[in-house]
Amino acid sequence: MAVLDIAKIGHPVLLRRAEPVGDPTTGDIRRLVADMRETLEEARGLGLAAPQVRESLRILLARPVGKRETARQVPPLVLVDPVVEPLGEEMEMGLEGCLSIPSLRGLVPRYRRVRYRAVDEQGEAVEGEAEGLFARILQHEIDHLDGILFLMRMPDLRYLSVEEQLERFLAEVVAPESRK
Ligand code: NI
Repeated sequence: MAVLDIAKIGHPVLLRRAEPVGDPTTGDIRRLVADMRETLEEARGLGLAAPQVRESLRILLARPVGKRETARQVPPLVLVDPVVEPLGEEMEMGLEGCLSIPSLRGLVPRYRRVRYRAVDEQGEAVEGEAEGLFARILQHEIDHLDGILFLMRMPDLRYLSVEEQLERFLAEVVAPESRK
């Protein structure tokens, strides 16, 4: 196993539509998934998509979590050839970052609830429903499989901040707006 280097914004692989995997039980795919797990742990991320490690394949890892605080203790789900669909029309704004976009955080609208279908590493069908943070992570990661970065989902680029300034951004930019 190995920690893989993460492609950063500007790398063309992040803008490409990734290819379906088909059979996830081959040696190459098993190795890739093992390396993605290790890379996600090392980076302390909430999710990771194969294009972020320069493999243009429809594989994503997502931690099925409700709260950011405990998120990194929850092992990720591995979804191969996933489909993610909204459940209902309700959307909410929430803060996102991306391992491929160092230091930036931005407010992104996402569906509050989604349904997902995929196969797992053993090739078995998996499906489930997600809401809140987990639904957000799934939508963020599946976007990576379609060449979409969270910045491209932001309706208003004023709601973008560097991490070092996050507290001030939330208190002085986001909070006053949400009271309007
Ligand atoms: Ni990302």
